[in-house]
Amino acid sequence: MKLYLACQMAKDSDWVKYYNFELLPINHETLRKADGFLKALYHAHPYEAGVIRLQPNTYYDWHVDDRRGVSVNMLINHGHSHCLFKKSSNTLEDAVTGEFYELNYQRGIYYFFNNQVEHSVYNYEGVRYLLTLEFHEDKDKLNFKSLTEEWRNGRWRKRQQSKANK
Ligand SMILES: [Fe+2]
Repeated sequence: MKLYLACQMAKDSDWVKYYNFELLPINHETLRKADGFLKALYHAHPYEAGVIRLQPNTYYDWHVDDRRGVSVNMLINHGHSHCLFKKSSNTLEDAVTGEFYELNYQRGIYYFFNNQVEHSVYNYEGVRYLLTLEFHEDKDKLNFKSLTEEWRNGRWRKRQQSKANK
């Protein structure tokens, strides 16, 4: 996979601090050219792209994103990691228990990710590389529900097909 190669070839100075992750900015113009989904998505909702790197034995604790309502993620490579969503937000501030479900990422597959549901990542072994698309629109303009509905309605795909038929 080309993205994995790009991650391995990148110099340490290419990685920038992004919240508590390390991020490698990706030139998505090249990605879009080779990928109809990314192209159509960008046309509907422009975004920036980057690879998030997580070192072994590190975690990203439970949180809701400040800015992002929704993102599109793709796991590039990992050893053993888990991405979890809380089943329901516990209203008790001192609650230390709760239920979760796991987003069982398959490598090379795009996922619409609801950044407004509490989530966490635990990386046990191996460096974890995840492609993430950050939309220019923030949570007030674009959210998980609206984006997934657009996808189900096939709005972008129809536009792509009609363009291709001209
Ligand atoms: Fe997050």
